[in-house]
Amino acid sequence: MSSTRVALVSGAAQGLGLAIALRLAEDGLDVAVNDIASKSEELKKVVADIEAKGRRSIAVTADVSSEEEVKAMVEKVAKELGGLDVMVANAGVGSIKPLVETTAEEFDRVMAINARGVMLQYKYAALQMVQQGRGGRIIGACSSAGKRANLGLCAYSAAKFAVRGLTQNAAQELAPYGITVNAYAPAVIATPMTMHPDDAVNGGPGSTAMGLFGFPPGTPAIGIEAVTSLVSYFISPAAAHLSGQSIALDAGRTFD
Ligand SMILES: NC(=O)c1ccc[n+]([C@@H]2O[C@H](COP(=O)([O-])OP(=O)(O)OC[C@H]3O[C@@H](n4cnc5c(N)ncnc54)[C@H](O)[C@@H]3O)[C@@H](O)[C@H]2O)c1
Repeated sequence: MSSTRVALVSGAAQGLGLAIALRLAEDGLDVAVNDIASKSEELKKVVADIEAKGRRSIAVTADVSSEEEVKAMVEKVAKELGGLDVMVANAGVGSIKPLVETTAEEFDRVMAINARGVMLQYKYAALQMVQQGRGGRIIGACSSAGKRANLGLCAYSAAKFAVRGLTQNAAQELAPYGITVNAYAPAVIATPMTMHPDDAVNGGPGSTAMGLFGFPPGTPAIGIEAVTSLVSYFISPAAAHLSGQSIALDAGRTFD
């Protein structure tokens, strides 16, 4: 069996997941990429881009809110790439609605993908890593909305607070197995999730949302490389004892 570490990144057809998958390949890992079935074509291109960097890659379509599909996804990656060393539970959906306009159905949809999905990915990655007995790194997508209130982000914020709780609890449980669990918690970064059609009018990608989430005017935008570099640190030997943390990348708006 090769000694190359194997990563799985969910929601990797675009945005942060795509950037993280490419960064992990540059860091020398083989990288499996996941997204929903309707993004199969985009995933094929990501696989080709990872292979062009000299690493192995496979695409696995699955809905992260489905226990059956997450279990099968982790098993497939472990079987085809020789195990699982790094799980990045990145897939998520946005939802901008105040409390009084949030329906039970919308709340359940956001929680199913952004919270239950993360729990399932943590769970099946942990089972695989414990069984392998060679440690591992588990990483989740939190948000600054998982650390403090944000006007209009009721369901989204609830789900990201859940990710922070899951990350802390999983970190405690998995420490004896040499598995760390951390999350990135950025404020708004320009990706397909956050770019608004009116961005051009409002001063560039992400600027609408930056205004919405209350940054002082003139605060520089947060680049995607802030997240990819943090993930790269999470998987490095130097971070062996960093666990249970949801690290804010938000220019000082939230503190633990
Ligand atoms: N962009 C930001 O400003 C920001 C800030 C904080 C946190 N985040 C979090 O980072 C993660 C990535 O965000 P992004 O901005 O790249 O979003 P994005 O919308 O650009 O990409 C998310 C990807 O997840 C996939 N996805 C959605 N539901 C899925 C499911 N059920 N199963 C599998 N894949 C699914 C989508 O198809 C998409 O390709 C999300 O969890 C998001 O909440 C983003």
